[in-house]
Amino acid sequence: MPRDELLNLALRRQLFFPTAEIYSSAPAGFWDFGPIGVRIRNKIVELWRKELVEKEGLLEISGSVILPKAVFEASGHLKSFNDPIVQCTKCNSLHRADQLIEQATGKIVPEAKPVNELNELIKKHAIKCPKCKGSLGKVRLFNMMMAVSIGATGNQPCFLRPETCQNIFLDFDRLFRSGRLNLPLGIAQAGKSFRNEIAPKQSLLRERELGQMEIEFFFNPAKINDFPAFETVKEEKLNLMRLGKKTTPITASEAVQKKIVSGKIIAYWLARVQQLYEKYGISRQKMRFRELEKEERAFYAKETWDFEVQTDLGWIELIACNYRTDFDLKGHALGSKKNLAVKEDGEKFIPHVFELSAGIDRTFYVALDSAFNKEKRGSDERIYLKLPVAIAPFLVAVFPLVSKDGLLEKASEVFDFLEEFKFECIFDSKGSIGKRYARVDEVGVPFAVTIDYDTKKDYTVTLRERDSMKQVRLKIEELPEMLWMLSIGRMQFNQLK
Ligand code: GLY
Repeated sequence: MPRDELLNLALRRQLFFPTAEIYSSAPAGFWDFGPIGVRIRNKIVELWRKELVEKEGLLEISGSVILPKAVFEASGHLKSFNDPIVQCTKCNSLHRADQLIEQATGKIVPEAKPVNELNELIKKHAIKCPKCKGSLGKVRLFNMMMAVSIGATGNQPCFLRPETCQNIFLDFDRLFRSGRLNLPLGIAQAGKSFRNEIAPKQSLLRERELGQMEIEFFFNPAKINDFPAFETVKEEKLNLMRLGKKTTPITASEAVQKKIVSGKIIAYWLARVQQLYEKYGISRQKMRFRELEKEERAFYAKETWDFEVQTDLGWIELIACNYRTDFDLKGHALGSKKNLAVKEDGEKFIPHVFELSAGIDRTFYVALDSAFNKEKRGSDERIYLKLPVAIAPFLVAVFPLVSKDGLLEKASEVFDFLEEFKFECIFDSKGSIGKRYARVDEVGVPFAVTIDYDTKKDYTVTLRERDSMKQVRLKIEELPEMLWMLSIGRMQFNQLK
């Protein structure tokens, strides 16, 4: 969907909107989620939790967003979590140097490209300030960490975490030892992270406060191929885009045998990512894992596959799949002077980590983008979000045809009846029935139940499907079973008589 249409829908239907928008001083890159948006966003996290945390037997934590400076000295972020920036000598505006060069040359420029090379490229392509065409100064590195001051004296230097996973590395030792656990062990966390982006843009795609759902999978590096769960995905085709090559779907088995990925554990998690994103409503043809070259990778990663999805805005990165080795635990062992090694088969070692670092808000954006449908209906236009049931804000809308003659009360009874069965329902009695259908279609509610005059006579209602707009007549008492069957995919709407 074109970006403007998505933003338009988001603002009109209160899905998401700029934080503190009534103040002109509000900084960019912060977004609030409205009543419907927050439900869809929560469901995105719930589906991740069900598929990749619960089904995989991982442990989930919820850590503090504020962490002491020592953590980020040890993690390398204070030294290396930088963006290359350049300032205009005329209007003083700041820009990301890599992005300016990309715009001028049409080629990807890794963020970690050395500063002197960025300066040379700016000179070579005679790149000027995009705002005033003034000359650009020298490129410098800008650290993206956000500092916070703790306590009355402010002498306890702390930072907002730039990635949720640092809590996981800090908590690993406690969970592993007090839980008497064994490797491999996955620890997950969904929460907020903060990055002082120079150029927040494209709404939820580059934020300063971002939602992340991260999994850190700890394992013995000598056993990267000793992973029985791999058998369940070995025939799964992975859309891998290797360095300098076109995307080629190859089986997880082949990717391991040909050493395209470092081992079975990595191929397994890539396959699980594809399976999860299909459940978010993204088609396989629009997914790929792009291998990153060294300069493009984060400073802690030995191997990275960016999970990307194709949209009207191009390929958007949703998950960084990083083989972080023992980089983080080793750093924290040194920084804290604690022994973070584990013992397995009589051998002591620091576990290796494979990470799936997913952007919640990016996933939300892309799920909306791929669900967006616009149809001409006579002189009108119909917009509906074809969201899968699993991430729809409600399962069913309940409407009285009109608000008189006892229909409002009858509709409330049906609403309460369905709520008793734990269906997530939304009630609306305002405006014409056509407008009410249009409102719930636009935010992706899959079904609607309408209570009319016949309901009072024979206890039947109409059940309408969002995508086809078809309606069937059912007894109220049949609704729970039908809705259940439809919601878990055991029945298609067109099978209802
Ligand atoms: N944890 C990796 C990232 O935030 O990109």
